Amino acid sequence: MANSQSFSRPTDLPSWSALTAHAQQLKTRHIKDLFAEDDDRFNKFSIELPRILFDYSKNLITDETKAALLALAKESDIEAWRGKMFGGEHINATEDRAVMHVALRDKSSNPIMIDGLDARPAIDAELERMQKLSEKVRSGEWKGYTGKTITDVVSIGIGGSNLGPLMVTEALKVYGSKALKMHYVSNVDGVQIAEVLEGLNPETVLFVISSKTFTTQETMTNAKTAEQWFMAAAKDKSAIAKHFVAVSTNRKLVTAFGIGEENIFDMWDWVGGRFSLWSAIGLPIALAIGFDGFTDLLKGAYEMDLHFQQAPLEENAPVMMALVGIWNRNFLGYPAQALLPYDQCLHRFPAYMQQAEMESNGKHVNWAGEPISYGSVPLVWGEVGINGQHAFYQMLHQGTDIIPADFIGSVSPNTPVEGHHDALMANFFAQTQALMQGIDANQVRKELAAKGVSAERIEEIVLHKVHKGNRPTNTLLLPQVDAKTLGALIALYEHKIFVQGIIWRIHSFDQWGVELGKVLASAIQPELSADAKINPAHDASTRHLIAFYKNARK
Ligand code: F6P
Repeated sequence: MANSQSFSRPTDLPSWSALTAHAQQLKTRHIKDLFAEDDDRFNKFSIELPRILFDYSKNLITDETKAALLALAKESDIEAWRGKMFGGEHINATEDRAVMHVALRDKSSNPIMIDGLDARPAIDAELERMQKLSEKVRSGEWKGYTGKTITDVVSIGIGGSNLGPLMVTEALKVYGSKALKMHYVSNVDGVQIAEVLEGLNPETVLFVISSKTFTTQETMTNAKTAEQWFMAAAKDKSAIAKHFVAVSTNRKLVTAFGIGEENIFDMWDWVGGRFSLWSAIGLPIALAIGFDGFTDLLKGAYEMDLHFQQAPLEENAPVMMALVGIWNRNFLGYPAQALLPYDQCLHRFPAYMQQAEMESNGKHVNWAGEPISYGSVPLVWGEVGINGQHAFYQMLHQGTDIIPADFIGSVSPNTPVEGHHDALMANFFAQTQALMQGIDANQVRKELAAKGVSAERIEEIVLHKVHKGNRPTNTLLLPQVDAKTLGALIALYEHKIFVQGIIWRIHSFDQWGVELGKVLASAIQPELSADAKINPAHDASTRHLIAFYKNARK
């Protein structure tokens, strides 16, 4: 893949031209008419998996669209690239690494060859260590420096070393231990760690410092603060061994920080940060819901991996989800993608997926480094659906931009409360219907007239009440948010991201775009001390802002 000029650009593919022409025709159609014309539409445009019903029929697509999108997948060599990823090839070419988060959840007994070595023994060994630690802490066998049982876990990490464990432990809270409270610190803004530490007892806290590189400034600053807070009480350095564990690829830096070898959990450079919750980065998950729960999460993801590898493209949920996303983004020109869980458990899912999607596919050059002329990842954003209905859905229904949305709901809630779930799900079903069907002026007139509104008043307001509809959505219906289902759901999106990156011919597994800001921040930080000089080479805006800040802090 690296620097190769030999690959085909998507815009040169016959399917790309066909889709471009087809989109011009289809833009004049309405999804509700496509439903009226085809009784079999739901069956044609949905995929039922054991844990996820994926309905993409409320998109502006026809049989012809599907065929052309599948041709795009074929012409983009999706199957071959999928084989390269699962085969451990260095498809992360700019970092010269394999992309093998899938190895962490491979529940077969086959060897997993990465860089000429079978990675399975190392993966299994780390899993066993995770199991031991989580069982000891959860059972109360692991004691703090004064002999007390651990009651609180503070996970310190950011980005992929935070969002996954946080999202999953929130989602699976009902399966968690009531005796062990989970806390997460990611922000370098001291207010977060101060709030978390307030009220905690150093004798009963376990800190998990998670950082693939162990150089991330936010995490290191928080880890130091945690250590100082702890040492102020414990005094004796040897107590650290009972209260600090770390997950990292960088044993040297972890040891230098003061955490003993026995408390370091390994991960590997072939696990990308935003795909790392399956590794020991998932330790907070195992602590929260138990090792069996963590294993179920892996199993659910593995089921999706097998589906992704084995199902024909037209019945392959990640592939179809990716293709519909490409259709909406590149051929219909929609700029964003909303993620709307109708399940309170999934309230951190949009934030988690934002990193997965936008850090992976927010790229502007192709594999050869050439600027791309087509859109890559759309803006991914979202919020728990029912809250969104009373906030930003106005824009989804009547705004000037069309924003495709994924609606994710569950048949059974994790916490059933009489009278609530059907109320929630009625909205879930109604919203995708409303976004698709809309309501035209005649219907609005009829409804207002039936309510006794005067003809004059009707004409004054009718156009404001029109919804054009034709707004595409996917629906993902889950049986329940349990560990296996959640594992499958996350893996579904991971593979969708992979497929889209391949079609766009961009490098999905690096993240150079976050580096520049980090470099500039470390140059600016010393300038913020009272007597330091502000670099005259900064632009006038940055110079004045820093000067204003420093003056105000005097
Ligand atoms: O700055 C972005 C990033 O590198 C992410 O890709 C990563 O998930 C996060 O920072 C945290 O990195 P680390 O685990 O090395 O602390």
